[in-house]
Amino acid sequence: MAENVETNGSQQARHQEYILETSVYPREHEAMKELREITAKHPWNIMTTSADEGQFLNMLLKLINAKNTMEIGVYTGYSLLATTLALPHDGKILAMDINRENYELGLPVIEKAGVAHKIDFREGPALPVLDEMIKDSTKHGSFDFIFVDADKDNYLNYHKRLIDLVKVGGVIGYDNTLWNGSVVATPDAPLRKYVRYYKDFVLELNKALAADPRIEICQLPVGDGITLCRRLT
Ligand SMILES: C[S@@+](CC[C@H](N)C(=O)[O-])C[C@H]1O[C@@H](n2cnc3c(N)ncnc32)[C@H](O)[C@@H]1O
Repeated sequence: MAENVETNGSQQARHQEYILETSVYPREHEAMKELREITAKHPWNIMTTSADEGQFLNMLLKLINAKNTMEIGVYTGYSLLATTLALPHDGKILAMDINRENYELGLPVIEKAGVAHKIDFREGPALPVLDEMIKDSTKHGSFDFIFVDADKDNYLNYHKRLIDLVKVGGVIGYDNTLWNGSVVATPDAPLRKYVRYYKDFVLELNKALAADPRIEICQLPVGDGITLCRRLT
């Protein structure tokens, strides 16, 4: 059994490598490549969105004609750049992160790509910003797409607010819903401390999303797992 899990795991890694080499890197925007390479040298590079997920987000935003968007968790801006490149010239993204320094590492690349004017970056925790927006009825149902890639222990708190801020028919994407594969790990599996800490929050989120009648969902094994939630009511 353990052998099967291992075989499946290494097979998935080979599939991802194949997808990257065949379909992602040859088509990657030069700014995305530059930002990916800058981020790879940063000590926290494990946090970055993978290139295949960046390509997926870029395609998704174009498919749904997203114009007004939000991102919680920017880091150096790889998913932010994937989004801004997909938005029309007058598109917008409200981007929040507690750390401005990492955002500023990627910002020159985003500026060079000519898409920085679409970004409204707010430094600080996202929850108070959402609470302010919830008080403003004009913000309700105003977002076409929201990408959540930050503190996993707050995802359900975000969901409570985002469900009102996204438009009916709009999409919220929750990242890392497979949480390093830990969602299927046995209780005694050796997990890194931060993976173990957030695991139960991710499991709780996945159950809550599956049971939420206000949304349709689709959980995809892209990157570390992304769950798309389309608002119904
Ligand atoms: C996984 S990284 C984001 C990766 C990013 N989407 C990318 O494409 O590279 C998570 C980010 O969430 C930020 N973060 C953590 N807690 C936060 C909070 N309460 N509000 C906003 N951002 C937060 C961290 O500073 C970190 O940059």
